[in-house]
Amino acid sequence: MNVYDSGRMADVLAPIGYAPAEAPDGADMVILNTCHIREKAAEKVFSELGRLRVLKDEKRAAGGDLLIAVAGCVAQAEGEEILARAPFVDIVLGPQAYHKLPEMVAQAERAAATAAAEGKPKAGRGILDTDFPAEPKFDFLPAPSVSGPAAFLSIQEGCDKFCTFCVVPYTRGAEYSRPVAAIVAEARQMVAAGVTEITLLGQNVNAFHGEGADGTEWGLGRLCRELGAIDGLTRIRYTTSHPRDVDDDLVAAHRDVPALMPFIHLPVQSGSDRILRAMNRGHTADQYRTIVDRLKGARDDLALSSDFIVGFPGETDADFAATLKLVEDVGYIQAYSFKYSPRPGTPAAGMPNQVPEAVKDERLAALQALLNNQQAAFNQSCIGREMDVLLDREGRHAGQLLGRSPYMQPVHATAPAALFGRVARLRIVSAGPLSLGGELVAADPPSSSERACA
Ligand code: 5AD
Ligand code: SF4
Repeated sequence: MNVYDSGRMADVLAPIGYAPAEAPDGADMVILNTCHIREKAAEKVFSELGRLRVLKDEKRAAGGDLLIAVAGCVAQAEGEEILARAPFVDIVLGPQAYHKLPEMVAQAERAAATAAAEGKPKAGRGILDTDFPAEPKFDFLPAPSVSGPAAFLSIQEGCDKFCTFCVVPYTRGAEYSRPVAAIVAEARQMVAAGVTEITLLGQNVNAFHGEGADGTEWGLGRLCRELGAIDGLTRIRYTTSHPRDVDDDLVAAHRDVPALMPFIHLPVQSGSDRILRAMNRGHTADQYRTIVDRLKGARDDLALSSDFIVGFPGETDADFAATLKLVEDVGYIQAYSFKYSPRPGTPAAGMPNQVPEAVKDERLAALQALLNNQQAAFNQSCIGREMDVLLDREGRHAGQLLGRSPYMQPVHATAPAALFGRVARLRIVSAGPLSLGGELVAADPPSSSERACA
């Protein structure tokens, strides 16, 4: 989501003359787009700001300036603290306010120019906007610029689930779904610009309930059917979904929509019912197993990834063993796992029985060993299979291209440069713990329009 948001910030700033730079040195403005999900991510912001301050001082000494903005969820949660601890910051803006960036930048540029003319440091404090505006920001953003064949498309934001460990409902705000017509129009524009794979984004993407053309609420399954009918859009993914919001129509869409990739990120967090309850996840481990079975019933080549938290307050050895058991039962082809990190203002941060760091370390190592084995075993099982790979990057060696399998595995292959940006059928001939090697079988068949032109 932050990668997508950063792109949209670049889009919104383009009309006032800003373009993305490769590095902070030499740039006129740096925006830190920040994440508040775990403590480590939030801490990084202040150390990064320390480095940028040096750069700003150097530029000012040379008669120029460097505007510094902090965006994203740390800005939302700790905006006042940022301005107090780092008064040299020019702009602090939350994730629902970035459509207002041009205004804020213009205001900051004026303040900086006045200060420079007077030979003084900037007067007053930086600009702060961490409102959740009544008007959704999407109505004010320009069409996203795309480069390459794969793109993100945000369809939903915010979350009303209030898992007891999570800051997202506080930093991103209440759940909001974009109207179907706006999403479909954006997808069509992307496809016209050469995109063949779209990843639908949302903190709680399958809670999507956008207004359809007929005035009724559409769920994610129906949206996927609509997008699946767009000529030239060959791959659709969505992330991140919640087990409670996997409804029958979404399951059926996995059966009916060929473009919907057979890989779902479906975080479970824990395999212990006691901990799932304390996390306010709203489902049990067995209900999760049933959801997985329903999805695999719709498409037997479907595979899963997940997020896990170890060391949630009160987690015992037995609870952790239940998590390992669930991992063994489900079988993940990839996963993210984290030590529980208490977040200020969330209910779990104040729960008794916080788990000691050393225990968290041990559990994380054991869980990751199991998950890594499953990932490596899945990669090995791909050898000999043919897979459609979207070749969207240069490989490390000359004549090599790199792409993603339907399961998001990185795959490298020797392939002609003409295949860059296209889907090619590869036979998998080698597998490492994190990636695959393939040999070219065939490129995608030309579409009907290409045939007509030929
Ligand atoms: N501590 C550790 N991990 C967390 N996550 C969310 N909040 C926390 C926290 N307080 C993890 C969850 C979520 C992922 C995006 O980050 O696993 O699915
Ligand atoms: Fe956070 Fe996801 Fe739970 Fe929402 S559903 S509170 S985003 S972990």
